[in-house]
Amino acid sequence: MNQLDLKRMVAYRAAQLVPDGALIGLGSGSTAELFVQFLGERVRNEGLRVVGVPTSERTVAAAKAAGVELTTLEEHPELDMAFDGADEVDPDLNLVKGLGGALAREKIVAKASRVFVVLVDESKLVDILGSKSPVPVEVLQFGWTRTSRELESMGLQPVLRTRDGLPYVTDNGNYVLDLHVGPISNPSDLDLKLHLVTGVVETGLFIDIASLVMVGTQDGVIEMR
Ligand code: 5RP
Repeated sequence: MNQLDLKRMVAYRAAQLVPDGALIGLGSGSTAELFVQFLGERVRNEGLRVVGVPTSERTVAAAKAAGVELTTLEEHPELDMAFDGADEVDPDLNLVKGLGGALAREKIVAKASRVFVVLVDESKLVDILGSKSPVPVEVLQFGWTRTSRELESMGLQPVLRTRDGLPYVTDNGNYVLDLHVGPISNPSDLDLKLHLVTGVVETGLFIDIASLVMVGTQDGVIEMR
């Protein structure tokens, strides 16, 4: 099985876990979109009643295409469960997220959910966060070079994310700085330090938020709790 097959397998399995009547957070990225598609199949085939809070405009489009009803956190500030992908997962279920750029909405929705389920293929498992992926940080456009300089002075090697030669702009109208920090000895401490930098809106470090990680492997889906 290739990586897409593994993502599809774990997304399918997760979609079967959703109980009738659930209020759920819908993550962003390719695995989360596969999950939304499988959820839509259950809505159409089984009459499953489910309402989702999307974490990006892309997920809004995916949910509408799949026939999944949507709501907002303003209407429903507490969710039963949320399902999302990740870029890295460590043995303590801490995550790096945000290579898709939806980290701020994803973290708000994850924290609003009683159970946060992470869906990954086995390539996302690491011993130490930062080993493979940069840490994305969403920053205000205003003064972003000043914010970047402060992160640089902390030794965090920020790189402005671009798309087609232009700064990448999040659904919230902000920029993303990817921090090439390498292996992170204390992710919780780094997350706290990043939140003290003026101009930082949110970080892609998800510490102590995940309740369950479902991993697609060549031997099937395994669960980390
Ligand atoms: C988007 C994310 C995604 O969940 C993460 O990048 C994983 O994406 P994929 O499922 O496509 O590998 O955090 O902001």
